Formats: sequence, structure tokens, C-alpha cells
Amino acid sequence: MHVIAIANQKGGCGKTTTAINLSAALGEDGARVLLIDMDPQGHASLGLGQSTLGRAGLFEVLNGQNDLDDVIQDGVAWGVDLVPATISLAAVEHVLSDRPERERQLIKHLETVAHRYDYAILDCPPSLGLLAVNALRAASQVLVPMDASLYALDGLQRLRELVHLIETRYDLDIPLRLLPIMFDTRTRLARSLFDHLLEQGLNTCATRIRACVKIREAALQGQSLLAYAPRAPVAADYRNLALELRSQATAQQRATTLETTTTATPIEAHEIVLNFQDLECRRLQIAGDFNDWIPDGGVETRQLDGSWQKVLHVAEGAYEYRVIIDGIWQQDPTNPYEVPNNLGGNNSLLRV
Ligand SMILES: Nc1ncnc2c1ncn2[C@@H]1O[C@H](COP(=O)(O)OP(=O)(O)OP(=O)(O)O)[C@@H](O)[C@H]1O
Ligand SMILES: [Mg+2]
Repeated sequence: MHVIAIANQKGGCGKTTTAINLSAALGEDGARVLLIDMDPQGHASLGLGQSTLGRAGLFEVLNGQNDLDDVIQDGVAWGVDLVPATISLAAVEHVLSDRPERERQLIKHLETVAHRYDYAILDCPPSLGLLAVNALRAASQVLVPMDASLYALDGLQRLRELVHLIETRYDLDIPLRLLPIMFDTRTRLARSLFDHLLEQGLNTCATRIRACVKIREAALQGQSLLAYAPRAPVAADYRNLALELRSQATAQQRATTLETTTTATPIEAHEIVLNFQDLECRRLQIAGDFNDWIPDGGVETRQLDGSWQKVLHVAEGAYEYRVIIDGIWQQDPTNPYEVPNNLGGNNSLLRV
């Protein structure tokens, strides 16, 4: 499970909007997503039309009253479950401060549901207290929405200091990535802020989120923008962001696999047999993330009674691939699961 914390100390710079719509875009793309509202304002819950009145949420989990599983609201958007927050969460700093391992409370609870989700998206509050520390400690990466303002820049600076502190203390590497929101680079202020960020060598998403009034309308209707206005340009921005993060996660996974292999630590590879029945062709090959897109690289082919089998050995994870039927690259006609690729078409998706 990839844990993405969406954080910036500056209020109102698009954290919750991004948490909701990134979750919706990942869910729409076939991922299993757990959205966690970590803000006592409860905006992620509200923005998805979830009433939190009288319901247990993250506060009850962190103070030991409930298991995380008990408070999850299933299917708040396609592929997305929610851990809601209520105003009582404001008291959690006090509760946590007395705990041993107070910075590891969230990660401990997340571990109990990690097998059920591909992503946990953490909508952080606009402050850097213990809740934010718990989020950063659990995060595999931090996404920092930035609008074109000096305050957002200041928020970023403080966040970087805190991330650095947590990295040093726990010997972690928590990559931080900026997400420009409503950043109109035609204005001089936005351009000079952007140049300043680039000079600092900060990692920035290729995707930019454009301004759109429909975002407010969607929140009022208690829906993600992707559900409310699926054809709005900003919905496409969030879909692109999901794609960017997914391909980056796959690349990271590949790098980790490579690292693990070279240090000779055995990774658990599973034998996967793909069956292709009634496929009339002279030659069938397969290429994807699992074999660096080299047709049939490391793949065994079996032919039985007119049907084909491809045998792969792969670790757990999600892999994009295509089949090559008589020399023509195409989606796997036997697999309904697909993800858009950078070429404007789709790849088939294999989840192990
Ligand atoms: N791309 C966008 N275009 C237009 N309006 C937007 C966009 N993104 C966010 N907004 C609006 O900006 C306001 C603040 O957004 P949001 O609540 O997501 O910020 P936040 O960082 O979560 O705030 P807080 O720090 O209070 O939690 C909201 O009214 C939201 O509808
Ligand atoms: Mg918010």
C-alpha cells in the first residue's frame, strides 16, 4: 500500500480538494483507495457528502476506542473507502502526547488494513502538530499542493523542515513532490514563485491543476469533481495526476526490486499462469512492466490443445502489459482490466 500524505501548513491551498479528487481518480482507474480525513474540520468527509454526526472516526481509533476497520465507510466513491473525521479529532494531540510511540500510532493502525488497499490518501490539517507528524511518519511520499502565494511557500518551507527532522530521526526517505494548483504562469508572481521552486531543485509534478469553479459546486453537492463534472478539464488534470503517481510507483517498485535482487535478498516471486483460449494466431508474445517490455523476456510459453499459456514469475504488485499477436501490439483481449497509457491508448492491468 502506497501512503500519500497531502500536506501544506497553509490553509485553503487545495489539500482536501486534491485528496478527494486524487482518490476518486485512482479509484476510477481500478485502484483500491482508503481516504483518511485527518483534519478536525472534517472537510474530506463533508466534501463526499458523508454525515459524521454521532459516528466514530479517526479520533476514536487513535484514542483506542475502535479498530480502524470499524470506522471505515465503504464505497464513498468508486473504489474509495473513507475514514471520517469529526471536530473531536482536535483533542487527539492531547491524547497522543501521553502515548509511548506517539508518532507511530497511525502507521500501526494502517498496517492492519494495508492488505486491502493499493493507496491510502491522507488529507492533513493546515497545522504541523502530532496529527501531521503521524501522517508524515506513515507516508511513502508527501504531495504538497501549492497555490501561487507567498504563504504557500512559507508553509512548504516549514513542512520541509519537519520532513527532514522525521527522516533523520527514523532513518527514512520521504520524497516530497509539489503539486501546482491554480498556478497561472502567465502572471509575474506565479512565474517568479515557480522559478524560485525550480532553483531549489524541488521535485514538482508534471501535472498542473487548473482553476475551475465547478470544484466548489461539486463539494456543495457532496461529490468528487470526477463524479459531478467528469468532462471538466480539471477532472482530466486529476486523472493525469493519478496516472503520473501510478507510473512513478511502478518505476519505484521496479527500482526496489532491482535493488533487492542485487543485494541478493530473495523476494517472493509467484508463478502466474495466463491462459489464452480460442485465440487464433501463429505467434503470441507478452511484454510489460514485469519484463522491462521485452517481448517474452523471462516468460515461458506453453501450447495445449490450441490454447496458449504464458508463465511468469513476479512479485506482488500491479503490472501494466500488452500482448503481441502475430506481431501486432494490443490490449489483452481476455482481460477487462485496463489503464490509460502515455500514447493515448490503454494497457492491460495484471494485479498479483
Ligand atoms: N483547482 C481549483 N479551482 C478552483 N477552486 C479550487 C481549486 N482547488 C481548490 N479550490 C477551492 O479552494 C478552497 C480551498 O480548497 P481546500 O479546502 O481543498 O483547501 P485545503 O488546503 O484543504 O484547506 P484547509 O487548509 O482549510 O484544510 C475551496 O473552496 C475549494 O473549493
Ligand atoms: Mg482541507
